[in-house]
Amino acid sequence: MAETQQEIVSVLTEARVFPPPQAFSQRAHLKSMADYQRLWDEAARDPEKYWGDRAREELYWKEPFRTVLDWKPPHAKWFVEGRTNLAYNCLDRHLATRRDKPAILFEGEPMDRRKLTYGELAVEVNRLANGLKSLGVEKGDRVGIYLPMVPEAAVAMLACARIGAVHSVVFGGFSAEALQERMNDAGAKVVLTADGGWRKGAVVPLLKNVEAALPNMPSVEKVVVARRTGDALSLSGPKLVAWDVLVKGQSDVCEPEWVESEHPLFILYTSGSTGKPKGVLHTTGGYAVNASLTTRWVFDLREDDVYWCTADVGWVTGHSYVVYGPLMNGATTLIYEGAPTHPAADRFWDIIERYKATILYTAPTAIRAFMRLGDEHPRKHDLSSLRLLGSVGEPINPEAWMWYRDVIGQGRCPVVDTWWQTETGSIMISPLPGATPTKPGSATLPLPGIHAEILDRQGNPVPKGQGGLLFVTRPWPSMLRTVYGDPERYVRTYFSELPGKYFTGDGARTDTDGYFWLMGRVDDVVNVAGHRLGTAEVESALVAHTRVSEAAVVGRPDDLKGTALVAFVTLKQGHAPSAELKKELAQHVAKEIGAIARPDEIRFAEALPKTRSGKIMRRLLRDVAAGKQSSQDTTTLEDLNVLAALRQNDE
Ligand code: PRX
Repeated sequence: MAETQQEIVSVLTEARVFPPPQAFSQRAHLKSMADYQRLWDEAARDPEKYWGDRAREELYWKEPFRTVLDWKPPHAKWFVEGRTNLAYNCLDRHLATRRDKPAILFEGEPMDRRKLTYGELAVEVNRLANGLKSLGVEKGDRVGIYLPMVPEAAVAMLACARIGAVHSVVFGGFSAEALQERMNDAGAKVVLTADGGWRKGAVVPLLKNVEAALPNMPSVEKVVVARRTGDALSLSGPKLVAWDVLVKGQSDVCEPEWVESEHPLFILYTSGSTGKPKGVLHTTGGYAVNASLTTRWVFDLREDDVYWCTADVGWVTGHSYVVYGPLMNGATTLIYEGAPTHPAADRFWDIIERYKATILYTAPTAIRAFMRLGDEHPRKHDLSSLRLLGSVGEPINPEAWMWYRDVIGQGRCPVVDTWWQTETGSIMISPLPGATPTKPGSATLPLPGIHAEILDRQGNPVPKGQGGLLFVTRPWPSMLRTVYGDPERYVRTYFSELPGKYFTGDGARTDTDGYFWLMGRVDDVVNVAGHRLGTAEVESALVAHTRVSEAAVVGRPDDLKGTALVAFVTLKQGHAPSAELKKELAQHVAKEIGAIARPDEIRFAEALPKTRSGKIMRRLLRDVAAGKQSSQDTTTLEDLNVLAALRQNDE
């Protein structure tokens, strides 16, 4: 880890408090802090009873579980011996009462629309599930999903869950190389993709990327291609099959595979502090219980809601709060394919007005971008259908929070700032909108049953107001179970700071009310425009370039993106810095990882500052990148001239 907790200095002082609007509380699932406290106490007193009750309420179990929790730190098993199926819980369970209710409302970037009722979605899922079986996909096999934000993405995930296959969704913005690395790590048998997707008026060439990667993905036997951007699919080889051809003639009925609670549901790759992304593994029962419960509580979901979470299914938010959480609750989930400002700055507000969306869940980076574009865009639209606003992915600055509340929510809608991670599977720290008074910039309080604590490196509680490391000190149902294929990394990354306690990688503090204020990552992971990236991944992409000798990538605060990426690069002998080379390197990173990882700034350096033992001094580089005089002791610097040279390089 890069920093010690003494270096986590909190600078934010925010005194505004907004109690939940009375009218909201009256109708809410949880109406007061007394409700919250009661559940909190219940969960703390007897966690196994609390979670057992929740699990029975949230899910249909084909066979009941016998043991709520089997905890052999750091390994947890939840709802042991229970059997369930997540597609059944998302679909079949609702058919008696919600067959004709829209499950998915879809709007493509080019304004095409689709509606899938629960009845229709069940049919699509079953046909694809049967289609996958016909390709030889069996329980436990891994299936890659590399799709745009179209209903097929949800259909694909649910079809996998139906037959007990383990899905691994790769964000459509990732490159062929990134896809290849993830599919090989997972040993995927089949990849589900599309000819392309629409983004900012252009086609994202998903199929081309898959085709480029295919010769290097030996485990992939078949690629199923959905039609999205063109009429005629040209499929270039025996491994490729058209989605519509595959599902044609398949039965509408597919008996769910009743899997054990701990059966893997999905692998989702996420960045860590090394160059190799981690395959975070989630299992079925525990994940489902938390995803379902938190969706209802945090978004105070009601039968007639039109719920819109703008995340892509390529990220965990898309898994838990576009697909599984809303569908388990029988809600209507809105899916939008494209860019937030295409074709104009008011696309989001236009969508909200036309669909009469009631709940909006998005990222601070989007909120800040809209704020900058000006109030006139939302003001053109009738946003009176909205009743709740959510934020996720990075700390939200109070100014953006206030704008969200005042301009988008028109002062009427509670704002829930939800803290969680790919690894936690579901929301952990968040207001309950009918109960919790909110403070701009604070994720407020842990949900009942979630034991979040701010500790120092020795495990001592840090006094209120002081920054420390955020741990979760007891297991919870939707926690990750392991890092796929690397169980040792699971232990090392999450449970070696303090044995038995889950280390989040985030810094945080609490205030005198016990509210949590998240202060960002303390490891070499950064959140760029709401996307989580490991600086080491970008570094290894850079050093893979023939002219680069060494690279160090750090984050610098950015008004819009939250964090911008600054790369310090030293070149191999005989190569000279140039503006063209900067461009080429940026392009190279986009090709290796994806456009989201493209450095915002590249600085050439003669050498990088290192300690005597040869470690790159990243904190120092962060200060240089941010234009700050470093507070860090530089006496261990290998060569002080290096630092001076880096500063001169500022222009
Ligand atoms: O640093 C925290 C930040 O995002 C990280 C998790 O990223 P990822 O696994 O991609 O999941 C994002 C969506 C859940 C965390 O370690 N983060 C997420 N939500 C918040 C946040 N930081 C502050 N406030 C939040 N509400």
